[in-house]
Amino acid sequence: MDMDAAVCLQDFEDFAIKYLPKNALDYYRSGANSEQTLKDNRSAFERLRLYPRILRDVSVRDMSTTVLGQRLPYPIAIAPTAMQRMAHADGEVATARAATAMDTGMILSSWSTSSIEEVAEASGKGLRWFQLYVYKDREVTRDLVKRAERAGYKAIFVTVDTPVLGKRLADIRNKFSLPEPLRLANFTSKLIESCGVRGSSSSGLTEYVASLIDPTLSWKHIEWLKTITSLPIILKGVLTAEDAREAAAHNVAGVVVSNHGARQLDGVPSTIEALPEVVDALKGTGLEVYLDGGVRTGTDVLKAIALGARAVFVGRPALWALAYNGEAGVKRMIEILRDEFSLAMALSGATKISEINRRLVRRQPPSYTSSKL
Ligand code: FNR
Ligand code: LAC
Repeated sequence: MDMDAAVCLQDFEDFAIKYLPKNALDYYRSGANSEQTLKDNRSAFERLRLYPRILRDVSVRDMSTTVLGQRLPYPIAIAPTAMQRMAHADGEVATARAATAMDTGMILSSWSTSSIEEVAEASGKGLRWFQLYVYKDREVTRDLVKRAERAGYKAIFVTVDTPVLGKRLADIRNKFSLPEPLRLANFTSKLIESCGVRGSSSSGLTEYVASLIDPTLSWKHIEWLKTITSLPIILKGVLTAEDAREAAAHNVAGVVVSNHGARQLDGVPSTIEALPEVVDALKGTGLEVYLDGGVRTGTDVLKAIALGARAVFVGRPALWALAYNGEAGVKRMIEILRDEFSLAMALSGATKISEINRRLVRRQPPSYTSSKL
């Protein structure tokens, strides 16, 4: 692949659409049901207008921030997406290497096709976090957490929006399954390592979640997790002020404002629109707030930071970039997004993260006739 060919994140997706097999492409691309929220994750960013400041000497810019005390040179990292070896033979190992090369971090999915230990080795001194699905079998869950801890992952991101799987139409039609010879690499039991079998009548992932993942997931499980690990716990999938306050009451370290890439409850708000109320609810608590969902350009990153996110995570773009060119593709994708963010900072008159605030962003006026915009 000509590495200069991709100049924006959409280019990676366009490539993947052409070359990925249908089963994988549909699984990666889909949102739930009629994909109302999937569209909104993008269009809500596009409705926001930027109001830049001028004459501020932007020749030197510092994009750095911290996530749970770890320094990031810019506030962009990789969200957990399952089964990355469908996109490229090196899967999560390539993503981890790319993140390390770019001096940023990745969250590894519980449902990775490379193991916790393989990915730790590939990321070396790089920053890595672990995404947890809570299994009905507590020992399976405990084992994942312990292994992540041992392998140097710096936090557990518990996914709280998936007690059951959302309805993804294409996966039902395709009777989605993880293609042979791939396995969910964190498990050794036949039952837990294979996702969907040929000849099943529906989405293999829906069946997998229904049989193995704990639908009783509640605040009690969060309390339990705190007793089995000393790693910080972050709740991934918070969309309301009420749940943000509850999260603070349970002393977790942070929340990700996320709608799971619009793959769970269709009709929930876009994440960029849900962000301000969560940020406001957590003001002064010390909890960190991150965002994922629909981040595709440097100005999206700028808008999310302006509205209070400490960092953003990208999901699908890493899959498209893997399909494009494995490790080098993911590296290039991150580089493009970082450089776009740097440019957006310069053009909006910000030289450091703390200068990016809500004054920079306003919702697109519904019409230009009112004076009360
Ligand atoms: C996901 N996501 C996800 N989340 C999670 O907690 N565990 C997982 O295993 C997965 N797997 C997964 C697979 C695929 C194909 C997608 C697209 C998404 C959700 C993911 O972490 C993140 O919330 C969204 O992908 C962010 O939205 P964008 O960047 O894809 O728009
Ligand atoms: C998904 C699961 C793996 O969104 O989180 O497909």
